[in-house]
Amino acid sequence: MTAVLNQDLTVLSQGLTVPKGFGDTTLVAATPGAIRLLGGIPAPEALPVEDIGRASAELWQDRDAAVAGLQYSQSHGFLALRGWIAAREGVDPRRIVITNGGMHGLSLAVLTVVERDATVAVDDPVFPLFLRALELSTTRTLPVPVVADGFDVEHLAARLAASDRIAAAYTVPDFHNPTQVTLSAQKRRALIELAERYGFYVIVDNPYRELRFAGEDQGVAVFNDSDRSIHVNTFTKTLGPGWRLGWLVLPDHLVDPVIRLRNRVDAHSATVTQTLIERLVTGDPQWFDRIVGAANALYRDRAQILVDELHAQLPGAFSTHAPEGGLFLWPRLTDDTVDPAALYQRAAANGVVYQQGEFFAASPQRESARYLRFAYGDRTPDELREAVRRLALAF
Ligand SMILES: Cc1ncc(COP(=O)(O)O)c(C=O)c1O
Repeated sequence: MTAVLNQDLTVLSQGLTVPKGFGDTTLVAATPGAIRLLGGIPAPEALPVEDIGRASAELWQDRDAAVAGLQYSQSHGFLALRGWIAAREGVDPRRIVITNGGMHGLSLAVLTVVERDATVAVDDPVFPLFLRALELSTTRTLPVPVVADGFDVEHLAARLAASDRIAAAYTVPDFHNPTQVTLSAQKRRALIELAERYGFYVIVDNPYRELRFAGEDQGVAVFNDSDRSIHVNTFTKTLGPGWRLGWLVLPDHLVDPVIRLRNRVDAHSATVTQTLIERLVTGDPQWFDRIVGAANALYRDRAQILVDELHAQLPGAFSTHAPEGGLFLWPRLTDDTVDPAALYQRAAANGVVYQQGEFFAASPQRESARYLRFAYGDRTPDELREAVRRLALAF
């Protein structure tokens, strides 16, 4: 099972092809040389390669630190790194557990709070790999529409009032994948109130949180202050997916269960990796924000270019909203007679590939299929202009 999951992940994160039956038909026949608007991948230019090189060289010159970086360490993760994360999250460092990235955090959350065959409310459309993580415990889901201000809490409240019961609710609150929307502060509070009233956990998946370039932060204190939230995050979108490093903000009572699970699975996250990131983020208190700030300036420009080009080259073909952050644009086809599968085939033949909306549907409804997901983060402005030109040819 684990081998299959890892294979799916590698394949998807590289945006190559997918094993049969995995459910994503959009990646199967990508034309060689196609412009790929496929994955939530950070811009290569945004990754702090030189700083990492320097920190790495310094580490291997410091024999004691290097040796410590090659030994076992504790399951919770490195203390100073947890302290740095805890300060940003506004919680006690004891509640932070370092993970091997976001997917690992999601799997740990599922295995800790979702009993076999329990029902879990999920975003609809949903980040599909969460459904794969959920399969560790269950395939029973209660799809909850994602609307303009995020997960439709009122919809869930109505279902709970009508006596549906869930073990957990899963949502991506900031710059949702795929719909790019953000859960409003008011709905964050309402969701946590529901969780506290009905006794389920909210699995808050927040990998895009740092990537805000417009609009107002809706805050995470409401999650971090609740005994009913598991807040999952990762360095993937900021420092790069290859680190495989992330963290959980857990309620006090879930720290020991997660650590006991960890002791049965992988003991702890890579010590070398933690050593390097800890040195980078704690060595200069402004470093991380500088890196993320520069990346966000790139993403803001790229998002704007993509929206402007769609309006200029395909006027009226899509309804779009300029993203306020994150790595995705989720435009809706305005003409209901356009067949999205045929459009995709023509676009791929013209040399541009993206994700079809139906891949993200958590329920049989057809609405997601009217959308396209464009990932713009790792494409240059010229590539984005050319991608839209090729898409216009497909139309
Ligand atoms: C919503 C969401 N959650 C989790 C992840 C996984 O993060 P990681 O690469 O750190 O495992 C991603 C990555 O694309 C994502 O989009």
